[in-house]
Amino acid sequence: MSREHSRPADGKLPTLQPAELIDMKARASKIAMVTAYDAPSARFADQAGVDVLLVGDSAAMTVLGHDSTVPVTIEEMLMLTRAVARGARRALVVADMPFGSFQPSNRTAVMNAVRFVKDGGAHAVKIEGAGATLKRVEAIVAAGIPVMGHIGLTPQSVVMLGGYRAQGRTAAKARRLQEDALALERAGCFCVVLEAIPEPVAARITASLRIPTIGIGAGASCDGQVLVWHDVLGLTSGHLPQFVKQYAHLSEDILAALKAYVTDVRAARFPERQHGYNMLPGELERLEEETK
Ligand code: KIV
Repeated sequence: MSREHSRPADGKLPTLQPAELIDMKARASKIAMVTAYDAPSARFADQAGVDVLLVGDSAAMTVLGHDSTVPVTIEEMLMLTRAVARGARRALVVADMPFGSFQPSNRTAVMNAVRFVKDGGAHAVKIEGAGATLKRVEAIVAAGIPVMGHIGLTPQSVVMLGGYRAQGRTAAKARRLQEDALALERAGCFCVVLEAIPEPVAARITASLRIPTIGIGAGASCDGQVLVWHDVLGLTSGHLPQFVKQYAHLSEDILAALKAYVTDVRAARFPERQHGYNMLPGELERLEEETK
């Protein structure tokens, strides 16, 4: 059934399903994904036609002010996921499982994935890595929760990787990444993020998988692309990875607006009459009479 035919009477589109992303790959229709951390951002992205909203653990850095993704907690991620789920209409909402929430055991991984779906309102979860992560993917999928994989530069393991740097730059490492991607597909992932890997490597992985690849710094051959909200809109301060394209420079607009506000407050130009409330008719006179 096409999406048009499955539209309910109230005009509200149903959530995009993981299986539809696989269909999109088969039709060579590119997938647009962006991170989001609150309800208004989710609404904007959804209105713009974004297919997948990732409540990324990048929130640790972009909205919580940490200098890596490691410290963000399950409770913090759950709160952000709930907000995004409230704002989303058609887009698939994917919650990133933070560091420590899936590594200890299959049981921990499944229990926390369930929290993201049940308490957070996510439709799917994302977990980083392959190797030991494969068993976690299998367990979460067996519990009925769709899983997005993530390989290449996996920020939760940035210390092990020796820093924020491109992965898969030698033939041996490229082969390893391809094996990891295939293993994630076999483990049941509906999609896999490829972060910071050379374009030819991403192209080979993409061609070898049935499930879609979503690239970030992995070139144009991926089946879709993801960017971080603050990067795409020009809200990031400091260093920008070379794979980022900024589609707006909102920091400048925000700063200019706030400076204008401060100037107006200092000069007593804000608030003006129309920003205030009137008393009910006759009540001011009564108050003045009573307090004479
Ligand atoms: O947390 C995040 O924002 C991510 C994307 C960069 C894929 O994992």
